[in-house]
Amino acid sequence: MKRLALFASGSGSNAEQIATYFAGRPDVEVSLILSNNPKAGVIERARRLYLPVLLFDRTTFYDTDKIVAFLQQQRIDLVVLAGFMWLVPAALVRAFPGRIINIHPALLPKFGGKGMYGHHVHDAVVAASETETGITIHFVNEHYDDGQIIFQAACPVSPTDTADDVAQKIHELEYAHYPRVVDAVLGRITLDV
Ligand code: GRF
Repeated sequence: MKRLALFASGSGSNAEQIATYFAGRPDVEVSLILSNNPKAGVIERARRLYLPVLLFDRTTFYDTDKIVAFLQQQRIDLVVLAGFMWLVPAALVRAFPGRIINIHPALLPKFGGKGMYGHHVHDAVVAASETETGITIHFVNEHYDDGQIIFQAACPVSPTDTADDVAQKIHELEYAHYPRVVDAVLGRITLDV
């Protein structure tokens, strides 16, 4: 059995897609959702999905080893960031080498880095008159949006598209691909027997 931990700071629609995708799978379990935001929509989604939630604050995340210890104690195989806004501390990256993945709502290395999250990304894409954008799923290192790319998918941007239109196209791509890319990454993880 492979165990997933999902980190989310916002609405959590990607987290829900992943949880639903793996529901009923005997070999994979979404074990819990972790969030830094007690007001995040993901909390209500987790309640509906009967998934446990661990809320943490900045001090716990950056100045203690509690989150790493908890994930290890929970025997988590893969950490999946789904709209998680905080930079992952180096200690967590080191504790889960090649086992933390993120989704970014643009075609990295374009429109990535600090401050490039959520609507800022789609606003920038529209402002730059891009003709296409997309999603990037990548391994996580100590820098924003910088780890090895696992998967990308693109969609067209038309001259009349608003940032909201782009956001909707991106969400469709995310829902179509993130769960199955997580599944593929899990297939390469052979820690437990
Ligand atoms: C997604 O577009 C994800 O790529 C980004 O933040 C958004 C989160 O949406 N980094 P949701 O919380 O999964 O609905």
